[in-house]
Amino acid sequence: MGSVKVSFFLLIVILCLINGASSTTFTIVNQCSYTVWPGLLSGAGTSPLPTTGFSLNSSESRAISIPASWSGRIWARTLCNQNATTGKFTCVTGDCGSSQIQCSGTGAKPPATLAEFTLNGAGNLDFYDVSLVDGYNVPMTIVPHGGANGVGNCNVTGCGADLNAVCPAQLKVTVDAADGVAVACMSACEAFGTPEYCCSGAFGTPDKCKPSEYSGFFKKACPTAYSYAYDDGTSTFTCSGADYVITFCPTPSPSTRSVSRPPHPEAVNASAAASLAASPTLSVAFSLSVLAVAVSWV
Ligand SMILES: *[C@@H]1O[C@H](CO)[C@@H](O)[C@H](O)[C@H]1NC(C)=O
Ligand SMILES: *[C@@H]1O[C@H](CO)[C@@H](O)[C@H](O)[C@H]1NC(C)=O
Ligand SMILES: *[C@@H]1O[C@H](CO)[C@@H](O)[C@H](O)[C@H]1NC(C)=O
Ligand SMILES: *[C@@H]1O[C@H](CO)[C@@H](O)[C@H](O)[C@H]1NC(C)=O
Repeated sequence: MGSVKVSFFLLIVILCLINGASSTTFTIVNQCSYTVWPGLLSGAGTSPLPTTGFSLNSSESRAISIPASWSGRIWARTLCNQNATTGKFTCVTGDCGSSQIQCSGTGAKPPATLAEFTLNGAGNLDFYDVSLVDGYNVPMTIVPHGGANGVGNCNVTGCGADLNAVCPAQLKVTVDAADGVAVACMSACEAFGTPEYCCSGAFGTPDKCKPSEYSGFFKKACPTAYSYAYDDGTSTFTCSGADYVITFCPTPSPSTRSVSRPPHPEAVNASAAASLAASPTLSVAFSLSVLAVAVSWV
């Protein structure tokens, strides 16, 4: 009886160690000269967040407490408004299709710059990256703070460059609502839909799917961000016990983004189907394997 109790106690302690006893703080900062509406999507099987979307004025920030072992993604929606007649909330870029400020479990319509996290993953490390695999809409960086010294590859990452204006013509998204100014930059997969650019079908493995001139455009401008699906080597970062600051427009630049007329989202040339790839399976598998070891002690 006593040994069962002790083992059970050990098991709890081990699970706490594995999953990280304290939660993580994300501070979301808007240094853009315009309002953004952050969207937050939790991966399948992870704890929900206290919010799934809100507005963030220029120069504002918001701290959010993130549950242990959370995985998911965060992005910025731009040029949003609420239709006075229908009450529907829509955004020109990054729209999550919920018709409300809260995204409530729906993801970003590409193109959108994504911050992706798997907290307390393999080896109890936090995995994070900024991805342009679904295209780009705003500059964004992830800056870790307070990570354990010398553990993981705990570096700043992201894409601080403004790529909309310099986006290749075939990828550029412009809208009347922004006076024809580019508001986003599609991935080649989004623009052309071929297996070669999407790393699907015959190109569905890392050895078959190679960088293209289009992914090269993103990689050159933003060397630490994912530029295509198998860009892992230079684009995944890891920390232990860190908090994270996610900044939109880390280096403020003069922007033409503010619009006088209400935006017309229907004018955007960008197809739907945000693919959700954030995977909590690694950390689950790891926790389960430890659980199995602990149980075998009982
Ligand atoms: C954000 O800006 C709007 C428009 O200027 C203002 O009405 C609102 O109070 C601001 N929100 C916050 C939290 O400061
Ligand atoms: C609001 O929605 C209605 C109905 O869909 C549409 O006809 C109208 O153009 C919208 N208004 C604006 C300002 O987008
Ligand atoms: C981390 O960032 C520093 C400073 O930018 C850089 O010198 C170093 O190479 C980076 N490390 C990795 C592993 O990317
Ligand atoms: C969207 O852009 C693609 C690629 O440039 C083009 O082939 C397609 O015709 C465009 N669609 C619309 C509705 O403009």
